[in-house]
Amino acid sequence: MFDPRDKVAVVTGGAGGIGFAIASALAHAGADIALLDLHREEVEDAARALADETGRRVFAYKADVADRARMMALAHAIADDFGPFHILVNNAGVAIGGPVWDMTGTDWDWTLGVNLGGVVNGLLAFLPAIRAHDEGGHVVNVASIAGLIATPGLSVYTASKFAVVGLSESMRADLEGSGIGVSVLCPGFVRTRIHEAGRNRPAGPGEQPRAPVADEQSQVGEIARGVLSGIEPVEIAGQVIAAIREGRFYIFTHPELAEYVAERHDAIMGAMKT
Ligand SMILES: NC(=O)c1ccc[n+]([C@@H]2O[C@H](COP(=O)([O-])OP(=O)(O)OC[C@H]3O[C@@H](n4cnc5c(N)ncnc54)[C@H](O)[C@@H]3O)[C@@H](O)[C@H]2O)c1
Repeated sequence: MFDPRDKVAVVTGGAGGIGFAIASALAHAGADIALLDLHREEVEDAARALADETGRRVFAYKADVADRARMMALAHAIADDFGPFHILVNNAGVAIGGPVWDMTGTDWDWTLGVNLGGVVNGLLAFLPAIRAHDEGGHVVNVASIAGLIATPGLSVYTASKFAVVGLSESMRADLEGSGIGVSVLCPGFVRTRIHEAGRNRPAGPGEQPRAPVADEQSQVGEIARGVLSGIEPVEIAGQVIAAIREGRFYIFTHPELAEYVAERHDAIMGAMKT
């Protein structure tokens, strides 16, 4: 049992969507929060709203999780502001859709840099300080159901999320018995701005910047339709807090997707047995 009350949590991609909902639930559970996100004004507004609502200490930090030097420097800044920290929510993520042959080097570098590199940088920057005290801790890595089942048009995203699930399973074993729990969050569609993630995608060499929201007919349009019909982030946040408290590893929010995981599992088992 790990109680977030009076602990300090670092939440990446915390200005909106799932990250903000988790940060809010943690603050309501009595934690102080370091919110990290790309755009200063957005993350400062979010931090102010959360502090006003909960009375907890909530500070904003402008950071790109793909920028390792910035993340390492932030670990010191956050320790100076809060003292020891305990909970790390590696949430920041982006999505891109389209057939694998349309994916450019920039698409791969950007998506893997944020979705996988951001988790790696979060661990490099913050895990040493969590291990350095004996007050316990918890790491939540935000993957996706796309970390367990592959769908067409999502090769880059799927590669990043399978990696986050695998990394989480391995580090959970490493941290067994250390007092630091690990969870991996694998949601289906959630109603956020993920389908607009392209707004932050850097233009590659010689490229025109892409439209921030893809047209209706494209595979990103399909993602947008799924996201807009998804569950609310707040529905997930409670499950994340319960998993932190109870030390639960897998967090699944869409039980109706279990059959697709079973289908993949059965195909693998069938192939291994023949
Ligand atoms: N929405 C869904 O349907 C869904 C489903 C499964 C998993 N997820 C995962 O949930 C996580 C949160 O996504 P969301 O749905 O809340 O999307 P969102 O776009 O609403 O929020 C993501 C947040 O991350 C921030 N961000 C993006 N790139 C960043 C970077 N390089 N550095 C720092 N911050 C950055 C954004 O500014 C934004 O505030 C992601 O990892 C995503 O892959 C989302």
